[in-house]
Amino acid sequence: MLEVEDIHASYGAGAVLFGVSLEIKEDEVVCILGRNGVGKSTILKTIMNLVSPTSGHVRFKGQEITRKRTDKIAKRGIGYVPEDRDIFSTLTVLDNLRMAEVASKKPQREKALEYFPMLMDLLDQEGGSLSGGEQQMLAIARAVTAGSDLMMLDEPSEGLAPVIREELKEILSELAKEIPILLVEQNLQLTVDLAKRIYIIVNGAVAFVGTPQEMEESKAVEKYLMV
Ligand SMILES: Nc1ncnc2c1ncn2[C@@H]1O[C@H](COP(=O)(O)OP(=O)(O)OP(=O)(O)O)[C@@H](O)[C@H]1O
Ligand SMILES: [Mg+2]
Repeated sequence: MLEVEDIHASYGAGAVLFGVSLEIKEDEVVCILGRNGVGKSTILKTIMNLVSPTSGHVRFKGQEITRKRTDKIAKRGIGYVPEDRDIFSTLTVLDNLRMAEVASKKPQREKALEYFPMLMDLLDQEGGSLSGGEQQMLAIARAVTAGSDLMMLDEPSEGLAPVIREELKEILSELAKEIPILLVEQNLQLTVDLAKRIYIIVNGAVAFVGTPQEMEESKAVEKYLMV
């Protein structure tokens, strides 16, 4: 469904990605793991062309989307929830969801609220007044509302209390039954529980790819993730 092939990227003179390739098939949750600063977020940004790759290809549903306009890529069906969540803090929850509908060909607000029933009681509250967990749920609910065919989430569990993180995991595993998910995570447990395949990034390149079980057996965590 999504193929990233040999992507290189830099910020000015500083090269960050050195030939990253990865793939997400339909019905898959794929996770990207890696220490801080290795280029995880940059991978998602090159897919959305928020950072233009200097070489390599991105294909979505069989079509080349490399360096296409970000809004056009979103329209093709990639829902991207960045690290900072990016919700409208002065708009209500309902209006945040409405904004996602405006840009969509097949709005699915009802469905989003089925996944995130806790938002039902918060519809009139301003986005900025929500807790971190609620804001994260709203950010993902917006991507569902927009009718995304693939979801890319950048560290959705970051800063969440363990009980909220558990709730998020349950919702994501439900969501994954309908929408493939590319997940950047630092939380190992969440990754192991959800992922079909895991990519570990070290210094802007893929150091390991395999199932959670293969990751366990190969001691990849000790090799690539321990500080
Ligand atoms: N806008 C930018 N301008 C210059 N350098 C940047 C910019 N954004 C990121 N970088 C650098 O690129 C490298 C990769 O950053 P990136 O955000 O992709 O890492 P990450 O793996 O997502 O890290 P984290 O776990 O902290 O979120 C880092 O060295 C970072 O300092
Ligand atoms: Mg990041």
